[in-house]
Amino acid sequence: MAKMEVKTSLLDNMIGVGDMVLLEPLNEDTVIDNLKKRFDHNEIYTYIGSVVISVNPYRSLPIYSPEKVEDYRNRNFYELSPHIFALSDEAYRSLRDQDKDQCILITGESGAGKTEASKLVMSYVAAVCGKGAEVNQVKEQLLQSNPVLEAFGNAKTVRNDNSSRFGKYMDIEFDFKGDPLGGVISNYKLKLERDFSRYNYLSLDSAKVNGVDDAANFRTVRNAMQIVGFMDHEAESVLEVVAAVLKLGNIEFKPESRVNGLDESKIKDKNELKEICELTGIDQSVLERAFSFRTVEAKQEKVSTTLNVAQAYYARDALAKNLYSRLFSWLVNRINESIKAQTKVRKKVMGVLDIYGFEIFEDNSFEQFIINYCNEKLQQIFIELTLKEEQEEYIREGIEWTHIEYFNNAIICDLIENNTNGILAMLDEECLRPGTVTDETFLEKLNQVCATHQHFESRMSKCSRFLNDTSLPHSCFRIQHYAGKVLYQVEGFVDKNNDLLYRDLSQAMWKAGHALIKSLFPEGNPAKINLKRPPTAGSQFKASVATLMKNLQTKNPNYIRCIKPNDKKAAHIFTEGLVCHQVRYLGLLENVRVRRAGYAFRQAYEPCLERYKMLCKQTWPHWKGPARAGVEVLFNELEIPVEEYSFGRSKIFIRNPRTLFKLEDLRKQRLQDLATLIQKIYRGWKCRTHFLLMRKSQIVIAAWFRRYAQQKRYQEIKSSALVIQSYIRGWKARKILRELKHQKRCEEAVTTIAAYWHGTQARRELSRLKAEARNKHAIAVIWAYWLGSKARRELKRLKEEARRKHAVAVIWAYWLGLKVRREYRKFFRANAGKKIYEFTLQRIVQKYFLEMKNKVPSLSPIDKNWPSRPYMFLDSTHKELKRIFHLWRCKKYRDQFTDQQKLIYEEKLEASELFKDKKALYPSSVGQPFQGPYLEINKNPKYKKLKDAIEEKIIIAEIVNKINRANGKSTSRIFLLTNNNLLLADQKSGQIKSEVPLVDVTKVSMSSQNDGFFAIHLKEGCEAASKGDFLFSSDHLIEMATKLYRTTLSQTKQKLNIEISDEFLVQFRQDKVCVKFIQGNQKNGSVPTCKRKNNRLLEVAVP
Ligand SMILES: Nc1ncnc2c1ncn2[C@@H]1O[C@H](COP(=O)(O)OP(=O)(O)OP(=O)(O)O)[C@@H](O)[C@H]1O
Ligand SMILES: [Mg+2]
Repeated sequence: MAKMEVKTSLLDNMIGVGDMVLLEPLNEDTVIDNLKKRFDHNEIYTYIGSVVISVNPYRSLPIYSPEKVEDYRNRNFYELSPHIFALSDEAYRSLRDQDKDQCILITGESGAGKTEASKLVMSYVAAVCGKGAEVNQVKEQLLQSNPVLEAFGNAKTVRNDNSSRFGKYMDIEFDFKGDPLGGVISNYKLKLERDFSRYNYLSLDSAKVNGVDDAANFRTVRNAMQIVGFMDHEAESVLEVVAAVLKLGNIEFKPESRVNGLDESKIKDKNELKEICELTGIDQSVLERAFSFRTVEAKQEKVSTTLNVAQAYYARDALAKNLYSRLFSWLVNRINESIKAQTKVRKKVMGVLDIYGFEIFEDNSFEQFIINYCNEKLQQIFIELTLKEEQEEYIREGIEWTHIEYFNNAIICDLIENNTNGILAMLDEECLRPGTVTDETFLEKLNQVCATHQHFESRMSKCSRFLNDTSLPHSCFRIQHYAGKVLYQVEGFVDKNNDLLYRDLSQAMWKAGHALIKSLFPEGNPAKINLKRPPTAGSQFKASVATLMKNLQTKNPNYIRCIKPNDKKAAHIFTEGLVCHQVRYLGLLENVRVRRAGYAFRQAYEPCLERYKMLCKQTWPHWKGPARAGVEVLFNELEIPVEEYSFGRSKIFIRNPRTLFKLEDLRKQRLQDLATLIQKIYRGWKCRTHFLLMRKSQIVIAAWFRRYAQQKRYQEIKSSALVIQSYIRGWKARKILRELKHQKRCEEAVTTIAAYWHGTQARRELSRLKAEARNKHAIAVIWAYWLGSKARRELKRLKEEARRKHAVAVIWAYWLGLKVRREYRKFFRANAGKKIYEFTLQRIVQKYFLEMKNKVPSLSPIDKNWPSRPYMFLDSTHKELKRIFHLWRCKKYRDQFTDQQKLIYEEKLEASELFKDKKALYPSSVGQPFQGPYLEINKNPKYKKLKDAIEEKIIIAEIVNKINRANGKSTSRIFLLTNNNLLLADQKSGQIKSEVPLVDVTKVSMSSQNDGFFAIHLKEGCEAASKGDFLFSSDHLIEMATKLYRTTLSQTKQKLNIEISDEFLVQFRQDKVCVKFIQGNQKNGSVPTCKRKNNRLLEVAVP
């Protein structure tokens, strides 16, 4: 597939010729025609070998889009149509891949598009080189340095709205992988600003450029300055200096006559001066003096002279130029500081040179001389490097090489720069010479020294050649530059070379309060007065050009030669005269010739074979051997004359473009043939494939159809066979069925007959058996009836007999009784019956008692046994007897009791009467004996004092819980009950706390529940009642209450009131408090808890 890839080439779709080396025939007209043709078709780029010629389109073309960048990226130089991107790509790739430092030299006259070209190169490189945050920042800074430099270094001129007023050389530095690291800008600004005076310094019409939004541009520049790294105050200072320069232009001078008859200049309007001074922070008097006087210092002498008006204007302009030019240099340095590469690693460098082009004006002065000198040098480096490279290639490739003659402009360079007798050296000498020095003396000197030089022409020279040349004025000299003859006006050369800024002015500037201005004029510092003259403009320029040349020589050059198609800055206009002039001085024709002097076209063997292999049978379609042999075979086959080509080591060199075009034509023809062939074969193949496909399809369809037909027939036969078969089977089956049915019917008939016969038989037997059974039954029934009637008769008879016998017996008994009575009547009294009855009764009772005597149960009063009664009539007796017996045995039991026991039972009885069925606590107290003094005070020495205090008998001595009236908490107290008193004592000490006479106790209250709380109510107003009623809880509540009751009764003969209620009132001091018993929570245990809820309520929770 790779072989099938369509490779485009410079040679494809050509408009004119893309590479002018291939131009046939070659002359100035064809070159211009070719450029025009291409220009008209928007092809603004044309090659001369590896040199790109660019014709300014003066309108934006859609050929710089990102897609275009991608198109040209990593493509061979000649692969696509000529483009500045192709050159940029070539340069970038050989920098990155072959480690060759590159320089891109962009030349052409003002407005030809050099600056644009340099920007395109930079933007292309920025687009294709590495990416990443850091790299992008570097790129951005490099790209943004352009608008800043253009803003301050460009100006509108007649030739170009955005004319670069400085030469710029920028080294872009890359790391080993081709990512940009930073850059260095060199500035070749001519201090002798070309037409500075025309701006005055800024007149409205010169400042205006149509279609340009100044405000937007200003913002772009401020933004660019920010990106490049200018601080806000720096940007501001820069603008202030610019303002100062512009204001300087407004200063005007007027002559003032002095006594000595000389005119002295005076500033017309001091307000302008004042404004400048305010802006720059210079003392007004200092600046004013600097514009009026000039101080010359020599050795110890100091001479001050006044300036006339012309001198004052000169001084003003010199100051403005210096200020602006120094500001620009400062800007360049400042930018360099920002874009400087941050690493010290070895860098690859790509230099872009955008320098002012060769200039020929009507009036050419020192500036043109310098510019053209610079271009002369560039041309030389171009010639040297191009030819050197070309020659090296031939040698490298082993091609026989005869030196090509070309015009070497070294001789012109020598005329200008020679240290001993060069024009610049002469000028310097003249400037430094003491005595009166004028431009004329300089020209005279030139006439003497350079008269014999081939390229120097002057009317005044001794050489008689030009004596009558009227085109050469007396005040001029002419140099035959490589690009043509240029006539220079000698006026101003000396001054411009001197480039003098009066010391008074530089000192005044140094005194400025404005930091930037001060720093721009270091020589103004009186402490550093340097009496030596500063280097002249010419020598400075020469030195910097020399450095530039040195720098360029170390790099691989790439040329972009810009051509301006018209003077109107307009699109679509191609002024042939103008272009012709440029073609001439750029030496393009020469360039093509030099290039063609060797071989017009060269190409590596592989791509050459790849491109033309179809022209020879042996190499088409595949060549198996080395590419060179293939090319040899190819060229032999094509019968190309041997002198038309040479074989290099890796490339084929074609001498004449004709040969290449012949090859191209053949190739085109052959491609058409091949296309036809391919088409033919393809068509044949397509038809055949189609036919084969149809045939195959037909066979398949026929086969399928046959199969289908057969299948259908088979289905029909099969179904017919099945029908016939089924009919036969049906018929057979029916036959068998008929037979079977007949057979079955026969069998059924036999069975039926047999069944009927058996039935008949059976029925007959049945009826017989039935008759027999009936008979037997009848017999049995009859027999039974008979037996029954016989039995009944017998029963009747027996009953009759028994009745009779009974009656007989009764009658007999009666009769006997009667007989006995009749017999014994005489022996018995009339009431004997009654007596017998009574006797009998007596006997029975007697017997009952005697038996009871033995059956009496035990004497235990709780024994419930009692024998059952023997006779009903003794029922009441029996019960009475039981009661009597029980009473009796109880009495017996009681008789055993001691007095004390009796007392106890009495108390228990009393308790029962008081509490039974009234208080839930009662049943549990029944089993407990009442002990009274539980606490044995007598025996415990601790209570000795207590014992001594009580004289009476102690009825109860027990520990109770006294409930605190205030909070319901309980405290243990000894509760003592004597015959007359109720005492409470401290449990630990035994000290008596309260004593209440029993007469003062009015009532005892308690709940009906299972708790031991009780209240003792005291008589109102009695002594003991000062604190109020008592509330206790005790384990022996029933006993205590009973004993209290009994004691009170026995002592006071009054019944103590015992109130059993779940809610009762007690008197606590002055308050009547309700004691309320509620159902408590089980979780607090089984102990009732008491809590004083409020003034009126004390709550006892009973679980
Ligand atoms: N490739 C291009 N495409 C479109 N317009 C262009 C192109 N090249 C140049 N121009 C136009 O031509 C004008 C002049 O170009 P440029 O400023 O590059 O000239 P220059 O050679 O640098 O001149 P100078 O020597 O005065 O600086 C540009 O402002 C732009 O309008
Ligand atoms: Mg420019």
